[in-house]
Amino acid sequence: MKNVFEFLHLSRPRHLEDLLAFLRIPSISAQAAYRPDIERAADFLCDELKDLGLTVEKITGEGNPLVYAQTEIDPSRPTILIYGHYDVQPVDPEELWNSPPFEPLVKDGIIYARGASDDKGQLYAHVKAVEAFVRTGTPLPVNVKFLIEGEEEKGGDSVYEYTEKNPAKLACDAVLVSDTSLYNEDTPAITFSLRGMCYTEILVDGPGQDLHSGSFGGTVRNPGNAIAAIVASLHDGNGRVTVPGFYDDVVELDAEGRAEFDRLGYGEAELVRDTGSPASFGEANYSTLERMWVRPTCDVNGLWSGYIGEGGKTIIPSKAGAKVSMRLVPNQDPDKIARAFTDHVNAVAPSGVKVEVKVLHNAKPVLVPRDSAMMQAGLRALETGFGKKALFVGEGGSIPITGTFQACLKVPVIMLGYGLPNDNIHSPNEKFHLDNYYNGIRTSVAFFDEASRLTRK
Ligand code: BES
Ligand code: ZN
Repeated sequence: MKNVFEFLHLSRPRHLEDLLAFLRIPSISAQAAYRPDIERAADFLCDELKDLGLTVEKITGEGNPLVYAQTEIDPSRPTILIYGHYDVQPVDPEELWNSPPFEPLVKDGIIYARGASDDKGQLYAHVKAVEAFVRTGTPLPVNVKFLIEGEEEKGGDSVYEYTEKNPAKLACDAVLVSDTSLYNEDTPAITFSLRGMCYTEILVDGPGQDLHSGSFGGTVRNPGNAIAAIVASLHDGNGRVTVPGFYDDVVELDAEGRAEFDRLGYGEAELVRDTGSPASFGEANYSTLERMWVRPTCDVNGLWSGYIGEGGKTIIPSKAGAKVSMRLVPNQDPDKIARAFTDHVNAVAPSGVKVEVKVLHNAKPVLVPRDSAMMQAGLRALETGFGKKALFVGEGGSIPITGTFQACLKVPVIMLGYGLPNDNIHSPNEKFHLDNYYNGIRTSVAFFDEASRLTRK
């Protein structure tokens, strides 16, 4: 392995340049105008993986292309399936970026660009790890497959459908995913739990067009007032979700789990520092980390109605709406929650307006047992890669396909996070620290090596 690590060290400037080229492609999946760039990002990966001698397929269907690649060294060795996503979030509000989101800026050891941390930089670390074996003529210690998608950020179905149809092709001994973060700058971490998701949209229709609020105010139901009432009905004063049945299947953290979270020492001060929020708030009687990692939520992600431009405009708006997502935890079932939510909104919907609930996408929560040999191999790899003691952590975000990997492939999903919690993912000035990129590549190399010592399942 020594020559591989030396090669990595010498290759740092080129590893940076190559990542910057990937980051210049504005592969935003949520906005149709960027469809050609989605294609370019997929081609960028296909070309590079082909150059490395892998067998590559660009899988095209109704959605954005999937990139599949594989190299079989020796069928008796373990196989690692690497998952990541080449699509990125939209950039708005663009005026809050200090440098253009698709013209990566490198300053003080940090890359600023949309997708730098989520997920191009993290995903690309695995590509560079494979590259190091190929370019040094060192046989890869494991068989490697890549499955990289372009719809993660918008909640697309392509990767689900492909995984459900092709479990034999994707067969492996572990899935490796880097789309999470270190615990903090000094502490690398494996994520063992992810929250799931139920993403909905509520649409309220009132008068056929905006009305003068003097002429007609007081005579019809105002959709803006109606959406406010619906949103207000979702929580009680203690931050608990009031949708009937919402908590029925929630698994409570045991005393040992609570104690483990408490030992991490993350509280009010840390939260205020990391979020810029004036104070913490959440479900009463749960600690900040519990609220963040293992308690379900119901949150407005967008809310609209009426006139929000400069000055005043006296109208009764014709329409209103909200995007509301729920983060789910084991053992909540996204479909069951979607039904409970829809029933609740219909039950509280005021008269005099039409209210419709659309469920846009669902993802299962994920829990990975911590005691498997592969999880332990992941811990050791992080310690080799970062030179620091690694932890198991929970994560509040969602990586929708991971639950399907667990169900269809029946192997552990090893989430080695190379980002930082304050990398501003989904937000202006997204960043990725060069040290984490380089140590991430080292970690992937170390993981292949650690995994190769384990027997095949
Ligand atoms: N990389 C994130 C998941 C994540 C979020 C990890 C926060 C660590 C911290 C992923 O790309 C993501 O944003 N997922 C979406 C999924 C959703 C669109 C279904 C999410 O969690 O909002
Ligand atoms: Zn991501």
